Amino acid sequence: MKDLLKGLKSSINRRSFMKNGLTAAGAATLGAGLVASSSPVLAHGGPEERSGHLTKGDAAILRFLAAAEILETDLWQQYNELGGIQDSEVPGGSGNATYTAALAVLDADMAQYIHDNTEDELTHEVFINAYLASKGADTVNLDEFRTLLSSQASGAQQIGRLTNLMQLTVDTSWWTRYRSGTKNPDFGDIFDQAVPSLNKGQHPAIPKTDDDLTPNDHIQAIANTAGFHFGTIEQGGTSLYPSLAQRVTHPEVLRIVLSIGPTEAMHFQTWSDKAGNAPALTDPKDSMLVFPDLNSSPLGGEEFQTNLIMPEPTVFLSRKLPACSIVRPTATDGAATGALKFLTAMGLFIGQSSAFFELLRDLAEDADEARRGER
Ligand SMILES: [Fe+2]
Ligand SMILES: [Fe+2]
Repeated sequence: MKDLLKGLKSSINRRSFMKNGLTAAGAATLGAGLVASSSPVLAHGGPEERSGHLTKGDAAILRFLAAAEILETDLWQQYNELGGIQDSEVPGGSGNATYTAALAVLDADMAQYIHDNTEDELTHEVFINAYLASKGADTVNLDEFRTLLSSQASGAQQIGRLTNLMQLTVDTSWWTRYRSGTKNPDFGDIFDQAVPSLNKGQHPAIPKTDDDLTPNDHIQAIANTAGFHFGTIEQGGTSLYPSLAQRVTHPEVLRIVLSIGPTEAMHFQTWSDKAGNAPALTDPKDSMLVFPDLNSSPLGGEEFQTNLIMPEPTVFLSRKLPACSIVRPTATDGAATGALKFLTAMGLFIGQSSAFFELLRDLAEDADEARRGER
């Protein structure tokens, strides 16, 4: 009973928030299409947001994905302002030459890739929200939570952010997970970290101020952190889409999820390749942060060569079936809630309000309640 009441209370709070959010979004971005869907949510009397012509579950899955894409865009935008290419496709910021050069140590085209990844996320966010609106379903707007501080280093815009790239704890286990031929996280298997010290403590992936631009190995450590964080984020998207696709009902919604998901995999494979070029070093301003030589023990050897960037075939569905080259994990139970936990655990939302976490949790829980074939 207590849980029921709590559930009811949070959906009421969220409903009024979503309604407010819609008003702002309608005015700011999507125009007439969205206004049509922003009639009072409460008028429908149900405990959930409007699904319009979509099933409740499909709308909930798309709303969670829209939220994830808004968050992705926000973090990629911060990377692009300092280390990407600032142009009409991805405006904002004026670049930081020292950080950009440190990123270029991983690959000469890093600035281009950062730009393109940022643009992709922006289009994912805008498309999914526009599709929801076109079906008369409620959309997602997180503008109210753009409250976190920007980097104070030269090149960054001074605007409120949704995500924090300056206190990250980066899980680098995807490096070994995609190289294992016998293990799969869907079987409960655990994987070693490529950079164990990145998965402990809190580390900046962008310079916090111009003090972070020197000495050389310090800004390189920050660029290396970014290089691994890129892979960590995009492997998450690579798993999230196929995990949720299994519970989508309408073929067109499935087409959306199946068409966006593989672009996350394209990003991931690119970053997986670049992370392997992160130079071995110890951060002179944080002796606990050590980037090891990935081609030597305990990694290295045939399985861990840094030029191996395609998934190693591994166990899938049953250990009795032959090994298969696959995305991992893809289990669907709790996939949205799991993705939110993963993003929270990396410190991406340090400084966010409890209302932010409550809204995200509600969106994730609704997505995880979706069932394939529901009306
Ligand atoms: Fe995306
Ligand atoms: Fe992505």
